[in-house]
Amino acid sequence: MDQRTPVRSAAPATLLLALLTLATACTTDTGGVRGTPGAAGLRDPYFPRLGNGGYDVTHYDLTLAVDAGSGLLRGTAEITARATQDLSAFNLDLAGLDVGSVTVEGRPAAVNRAGSELTLRPDNEVEDRLRKGRTFRTVVRYSGAPRTFTDADGSKEGWVRTGRGSVALGEPTGSMAWFPGNHHPSDKASYDIRVTVPEGWSAVSNGELASRRTAGRRTTFHWRTREPMASYLATVAVGRYTVKQSATGDGMPVLTAVDPAAVSASAAVLGRIPEVLRWAEQTFGPYPFASAGAIVGLSKDSDYALETQNRPFFPGPPDIGLLVHELAHQWFGNSVTPESWQDMWLNEGFATYAEWLWNEEHEGVPVRDSFDAAYENDANWAFPPGDPPSAAELSGPPVYGRGAMVVHRIRQRMGDDEAFFALVRGWLKAHRHGNASTEDFTAYVEKESGLDLTGLWDTWLNGRSRPARG
Ligand code: TRP
Ligand code: ZN
Repeated sequence: MDQRTPVRSAAPATLLLALLTLATACTTDTGGVRGTPGAAGLRDPYFPRLGNGGYDVTHYDLTLAVDAGSGLLRGTAEITARATQDLSAFNLDLAGLDVGSVTVEGRPAAVNRAGSELTLRPDNEVEDRLRKGRTFRTVVRYSGAPRTFTDADGSKEGWVRTGRGSVALGEPTGSMAWFPGNHHPSDKASYDIRVTVPEGWSAVSNGELASRRTAGRRTTFHWRTREPMASYLATVAVGRYTVKQSATGDGMPVLTAVDPAAVSASAAVLGRIPEVLRWAEQTFGPYPFASAGAIVGLSKDSDYALETQNRPFFPGPPDIGLLVHELAHQWFGNSVTPESWQDMWLNEGFATYAEWLWNEEHEGVPVRDSFDAAYENDANWAFPPGDPPSAAELSGPPVYGRGAMVVHRIRQRMGDDEAFFALVRGWLKAHRHGNASTEDFTAYVEKESGLDLTGLWDTWLNGRSRPARG
């Protein structure tokens, strides 16, 4: 967000006075004009304070150590960001944890904390390195017991306990429980994540394993994610895992990490990852990342799966439908990411539709039957999928079931499957590794299909009541 110094229009004398005051207030020791503070939030419709204005993160370099016994975390976050305004100060989101030293461009910065907002005021010496367009580096050292959040809908996220370890689950806001940053889905970045754990334990994260070193009875895993990732999709699973490396038919690495107690019950479904990816590529286009896999933990606090990038997390052995859903999210959500949390139906509607397609092709359940079942389910009509009444309903049934119905109605209106699937692939290609909103989607569909779909949006997407089935 742009926060400008307010200058009101005024009579000439007052204006002169105002300009003089302004000039004094905005002149640094070096004579430049001072920047303004970045906004404390990005005005997300559901989480107005989530994320921060005035900069874009390009890279997170996280160095973490997890103590097995206490679960305490010690971390260093090196954040590389580009200023989108002349900055005098800026915020990071961080919930809980103790903040030690903070530097910006190598110089100690003043830190103020209020709730989950960390305000950093860089040293005057480096202020011109935070001018609009410049790239600057922030280093935050922190430690403590990371929090488990309870969301408005009662589910747990953040730092979640598993068997004898933990897993970081960040949708929609939990990533601020384990590293400071710009935790809105609109600010995607690449990541290096290094995690040190006791020897014999694993730390499994996103992307590819760059190195693994054991020294002094501790092992450091270094994971690297080059493609942009929204922070809610970042994860670290710490514990005893059975790690298996394989590859798809095309030679893309597949890495699974499974709680030893879940290995035999997971093996058959996880063995189908290459098959599901191949099917999804034929349906949705190229897989957007350099590696794939899954993490199966035995979650104590949560019972949901999450499409963490490259390697979705499952709270126990998944069935094939759930695997298809989470792998479909790698295209819908992870590569093409919601612009705000209001656009989340684009993730869940398409991931649900992927299940319907899979079930038709592999289980003999026609998409029409899935559509009909969703249509008959009253829970899917509680609210329009792109307008959950509150954060508590963000992942409510309409976001999934009615979202998928919207997709199917588009296909029916187009009346040409080849054109429909080409449109879906085109949508993914147009926003690959980016963000997109509901408005982007409806405009894209109308433009590519050449259809006026006002009626469809007014009823199936935005209508308050259940339309005639048609
Ligand atoms: N995205 C997850 C899935 O579909 C579900 C989920 C987990 C979720 N946590 C959430 C959805 C928080 C919305 C908000 O598999
Ligand atoms: Zn989902």
